[in-house]
Amino acid sequence: MKARGEIRPPGDKSISHRAVLLSTLTEGVMDICGLLRSQDVLSSCQAVQSLGIELNSQAELVTIRGKTPREPKKVLDAGNSGTTARLLCGVFASMDGVSTLTGDDSLVKRPMARVIRPLERMGALFLARSGSFLPLSVKGSRLKGITHEMEISSAQVKSALIIAALKAEGTTSIREPWPSRDHTERMLAYLGARLEKKGTAIEITGPQTIQAGEITVPGDPSSAAFPAVWAASTPGSEIRIRDVCLNPTRTAFVSVLARMRAQIVMENTRETCGEPVGDLVVTGGDLLGTTIGGPEIPALIDEIPILAVAAARAHGTTVIQGASELRLKESDRITALTRGFSSLGAEIQELDDGMVIEGPLKLRAGTVQTMGDHRIAMTFAILSRIFDIEVELDDAACVAISYPGFFPSMESLA
Ligand code: S3P
Repeated sequence: MKARGEIRPPGDKSISHRAVLLSTLTEGVMDICGLLRSQDVLSSCQAVQSLGIELNSQAELVTIRGKTPREPKKVLDAGNSGTTARLLCGVFASMDGVSTLTGDDSLVKRPMARVIRPLERMGALFLARSGSFLPLSVKGSRLKGITHEMEISSAQVKSALIIAALKAEGTTSIREPWPSRDHTERMLAYLGARLEKKGTAIEITGPQTIQAGEITVPGDPSSAAFPAVWAASTPGSEIRIRDVCLNPTRTAFVSVLARMRAQIVMENTRETCGEPVGDLVVTGGDLLGTTIGGPEIPALIDEIPILAVAAARAHGTTVIQGASELRLKESDRITALTRGFSSLGAEIQELDDGMVIEGPLKLRAGTVQTMGDHRIAMTFAILSRIFDIEVELDDAACVAISYPGFFPSMESLA
């Protein structure tokens, strides 16, 4: 089925979380335009409210009166959101009192040691289930700067440490193997914080307070990737996806699609609140297989499920490797994809850290288990349009985690 028309994806999820959670670092008023209204971001909004911060939501605008967070009276629930959970750990680390956090069935299985251990070295006290899982409690304290070499690239961990570092005495230096998304750094710089890039490390000297400001949230490239792959791999398609965040730490999927011979171009590029923004114009054609791995993995980690669909349509072999982090997302996405393709009559090769797809696959109608994972649900919903087959999802409602209007929005392009 061809895709034609124009859409504006919902607000970027990562930027939305940060706009809400950074209100714990300022005494000023944050006016946020275009905040993503999804379940995940709602978890961040409810969390800051539980910390005594006032939040008002009116039509397009969300206004947050920043202030020093106070000890919560109840257990905070991050729901399905890893970003809420991990960034909140950075907030709790310097707060007075004890804060307790839990999450849904998926989140309580996701690793927290990567954020707990460095925050402990900074001086915070953690008590976590089995040492490193939610639920966990944090007793905040006076923090000190540390030097931290991350074993895996993670924007959530990096952001938690940056938030803590702004409250700590002295300098914190953070280095990750390959650059992950840098929205926290960009938003903080836009709000007047001093962060320094020293080679591949970031240095923050605390304590620092930040100003509040107006933040306009651009469209989410991870949401844009779904219609982009649909249009790119279906000849006769032509779509424009407006106002997308084109931060290079998020757009590696565009380079991969271009490498697969897709016709995808960026237009109307400009800068908004420290983030590059523009339109993606995508024209359909025949795709070729490619190899995806190495430093580009952190910059497309959330787009791998939908890129696997492009690979399933493409001619030739696609190899995805170095992506073992996929097993630790909202679901084990390598297993979810392998099983999903299998229930539609085709086998892909599962690797420990990725997959091999020999395209084009021959698929038939079937039912796919989403494992409650929003990106797996959207991936197979788009696959059904590309392959013109009926795909039933056991849980379609989970798309509301990141893209509440997903189905009507895709319908408008059909
Ligand atoms: C995110 C970072 C990534 C990404 C997630 C959102 C963020 O996770 O997969 O969907 O907003 O910082 P990691 O930090 O675990 O790599």
